[in-house]
Amino acid sequence: MTRLLVVGSINMDYVFEASCLPRNGETLGGQSFRRTPGGKGADQAVAAARLGAETWLVGCTGDDAEGHGLLDHLRAEGVCTDHVATTVDAPTGAAAVFACQGESAVTVVPGANHRLTPAHVRTAETLFARSDMVLAELGIPMAAAMEAAALAHRFGKPFLLTASPAGAIPPELLQRVNLFLTNQHELMMGFGDGQTEWRALLAKWPGRIVVTRGDEGAAHVDGQGTLHEQPAFRVPVLDTTGAGDAFAAALAVHWALGIPQAMRMACAVAAMAVRGFGSQSTLPTRQELWDFLENAG
Ligand code: RIB
Repeated sequence: MTRLLVVGSINMDYVFEASCLPRNGETLGGQSFRRTPGGKGADQAVAAARLGAETWLVGCTGDDAEGHGLLDHLRAEGVCTDHVATTVDAPTGAAAVFACQGESAVTVVPGANHRLTPAHVRTAETLFARSDMVLAELGIPMAAAMEAAALAHRFGKPFLLTASPAGAIPPELLQRVNLFLTNQHELMMGFGDGQTEWRALLAKWPGRIVVTRGDEGAAHVDGQGTLHEQPAFRVPVLDTTGAGDAFAAALAVHWALGIPQAMRMACAVAAMAVRGFGSQSTLPTRQELWDFLENAG
């Protein structure tokens, strides 16, 4: 069984569904509202646990009803939360998700996620030693992500970073990441110069980046400079929120297959995830993934 350590954010998502996304100054009548568990770290941890990995999460929630509810939910999903801190200084992270016919726009207020400190990450040192690999993302302070990278490096564990939310990545972190997971926008923001197109950017970082391209699938240039492209699986899309997190977790769980084959599994899991509202509602189990792949041919 793969042992995955995830260091990342935990949010309550407030999902508003309407026939289009709201514009500036507009009050729009919606069709549905849901309060669902989210946050990139929690999404990745739940996705990995459903796929059968032993999963530990390091993060921080507020000492409030949302935080307690999210921790109960994570435990019920089989995620170990022994190293999730609780703070009284900030509310649990919250995301407003506006969803419309497969498109979405998200505003995140990090709250307690931004109280995660390097010292707290260090309390999970034994988990770094026991894990097969470490996943992190940037919904937590950069200092906490850098500590996670340093510990993964110290124990010789592959460190996979979802470079989201998009932004510049400090050189010390760049050096420590074995594989970056980005969407095309984040690739341009984190690695681009405003001119170079995505394939050329991947080629500049051989073996270091997997880019997700929405309904175009995913791509990777390996260490020998060969471009691998995995087409997306065609499914009816309800809500794309969290698809990148589902992809990241599935890629990590199937890491031993090699990146091209792991990208196929990850594209399948991401496709299954976008068939329902909320970032965790339709994440598949291992058996559901196999059934999906069998039917996909
Ligand atoms: O990646 C999806 C997640 O990003 C959502 O669950 C939301 O919480 C935001 O952080």
